[in-house]
Amino acid sequence: MDNIDTRPKKTVADSKTETTRTILYKDINGSNRLFGGRLMEWIDETSGITAMRHCGGFVTSASVDNLRFRRGANLYDVITLVGRVTYVGRTSMEVRTDVYVEDPKTGMRHMINTAYMTQVCIDDEGKPKVIPYGLEISGPSEQAEWEGALKRIELRKKRRLEGY
Ligand SMILES: CC(C)(COP(=O)(O)OP(=O)(O)OC[C@H]1O[C@@H](n2cnc3c(N)ncnc32)[C@H](O)[C@@H]1OP(=O)(O)O)[C@@H](O)C(=O)NCCC(=O)NCCS
Repeated sequence: MDNIDTRPKKTVADSKTETTRTILYKDINGSNRLFGGRLMEWIDETSGITAMRHCGGFVTSASVDNLRFRRGANLYDVITLVGRVTYVGRTSMEVRTDVYVEDPKTGMRHMINTAYMTQVCIDDEGKPKVIPYGLEISGPSEQAEWEGALKRIELRKKRRLEGY
């Protein structure tokens, strides 16, 4: 769906979601590093909340398009996840979630991970439901994310045709 649609629009800021956690023993592996699977769980949760805030209803995770582990994180690190809607289709939304480790001395955040997930708005039967709001794009970085999402949709279609 292009961004010329007749639905009322919400901004990216309207649904932006930030969650903060401390890495505890239950979250680490034998090397005192954060389990990748735990981080994926937190990304799924943040992405889902972001999408729910945009569509004003329930959502289900349809796919993870891109998940890049740039750096690890360690016991007691403070982790912040920031979810932003990058694209809104008819019933699906793409959400980018950036993950940061916070330096306790300076408060500076260092990005360790970025993920793009597709969330689908669903009705009470779990069937896809039309999202009542489009996305208001503001500024070049939101425009670039929207165009990136269109490319990821094309790549996904191509992969599906190739049987992945
Ligand atoms: C996601 C789900 C609701 C889609 O249902 P469906 O009957 O295939 O629906 P459609 O083919 O009409 O697709 C609906 C939308 O989802 C998108 N979509 C479907 N499968 C997708 C996938 N694998 N990746 C990205 N987007 C997808 C479609 O492009 C469409 O988007 P649009 O309306 O914005 O154009 C369904 O496949 C499902 O329930 N999957 C299980 C989800 C789940 O349990 N998640 C938790 C993981 S354990």
